[in-house]
Amino acid sequence: MATRAHFSSRIGFILAAAGSAVGLGNIWGFPTQAASNGGAVFLIVYLLMVFALAYPLLVAELTIGRYGNADPITSLRKVWPQQRALMGFVGLAGMIAVSLILSFYAIVAGWLLGYLVAPVLDLLGLTAQAQWLEEFGVERNLILMLVFMWLTVMVVRSGVTDGIEKWSTRLMPVLLLLFVVMVIYILTQDGAWEGLRVYLVPDASHLSPKLIVSAMGQAFFSLSLGVCTMMVYGSYLDKSANLPKTAAQVALLDTGVAFLAGMLILPAMFVAQNHGVVIYDDTGALLASDTLVFSVLPSMFETMGGVGILVSTLFFILMVIAALTSSISMLEVPVSCVIEELNHTRHWAVWWIGGVISVISTVIVFNFESLFGFVITMTTAYAQPIIGMIFAILVGWIWHRDKVLNEIKAGYPELEASLFWRIWPWYVRIVCPVLMLLVFFLQ
Ligand code: TRP
Repeated sequence: MATRAHFSSRIGFILAAAGSAVGLGNIWGFPTQAASNGGAVFLIVYLLMVFALAYPLLVAELTIGRYGNADPITSLRKVWPQQRALMGFVGLAGMIAVSLILSFYAIVAGWLLGYLVAPVLDLLGLTAQAQWLEEFGVERNLILMLVFMWLTVMVVRSGVTDGIEKWSTRLMPVLLLLFVVMVIYILTQDGAWEGLRVYLVPDASHLSPKLIVSAMGQAFFSLSLGVCTMMVYGSYLDKSANLPKTAAQVALLDTGVAFLAGMLILPAMFVAQNHGVVIYDDTGALLASDTLVFSVLPSMFETMGGVGILVSTLFFILMVIAALTSSISMLEVPVSCVIEELNHTRHWAVWWIGGVISVISTVIVFNFESLFGFVITMTTAYAQPIIGMIFAILVGWIWHRDKVLNEIKAGYPELEASLFWRIWPWYVRIVCPVLMLLVFFLQ
């Protein structure tokens, strides 16, 4: 086989992996979950989950990928060569799960496209069209989803360095900057500090098994774990990269963005309330329906007057970009498998797989009530933790310790003397699977 593409620089990799991690999960999922689960308590449990469970697994997934230097199916088979069929099955399961994740992700990302274009149409006097874009409807959902899928296909078609890496490195820094600016703005508004209090001052009465399960799911989703995404990115990483350190940087960036998004959205909710948007339901509980962000943010932009439309456009452009750097990492999993296992060209593989996923997405759009939530639960509450646990078991129990050591040592010569190596191997072997089982049975 010809030499495979690799990320051309360390920072390129970090931004691409962080680009995969940072997405709707951070900006839409995390604040929504925090708002409906008591704010600060959710934040704390989430942080625990990221560092105690997700980070060690991120290192495990990246290590399998880099060791394999191949698509996930082959990489998994290199870890356990005696079980080719079983490993093929696990890889396939990851590939199907991530394709299903993309099929609902593209629908939500499509809504963002709508919110991006609507204010501009409004400005041009096309009020009816603007309203159509912002209102829930089968045709709107379908068309916007297809546009977003098309964008994803175009980037992945260009390959690793020219597509994925180039776009991630350019767009991620802009995203971070805009977030900081918006947080500063929102904190100057009336009511913002009440939101900040909910977000940062814990009230232990909110702690519940459901909250812990949600926080774990959120951490898994946010770090793109358990479905071979990080494995395939790891396979494009060169041997001199320090895996534990790189993974820590990715996890920190991802968590940082989620934290910032919370700093923006929770205060923005209370500011919006000051402007008449309903954020509590009849029972007095915080209303955190899936569309919360979509009613709260536009209301915040309206308070900004003339610049509001500019900021709103910029914000939704960045949301779309954040979603795009995530969706490309999802599509890359089946694409890399098909290119390397079936010898298809990238061009052909991207189009037909993108097509199949669009069809699945279309089925969801037409059966939204019954399928949308169902697919999200099946993939994020079941597939991701279960396959993630299988990866942990593979690394902890099946893979020869010396092989793991050598793989990580390649980019981290002093590994054996490090605290990381004293903890991580048994941690992935015992603590991660046990923790995951516990959490799993809490639900
Ligand atoms: N982590 C991304 C987010 O927070 C989404 C994502 C990208 C993802 N790749 C994934 C989620 C793989 C689950 C599995 O939005």
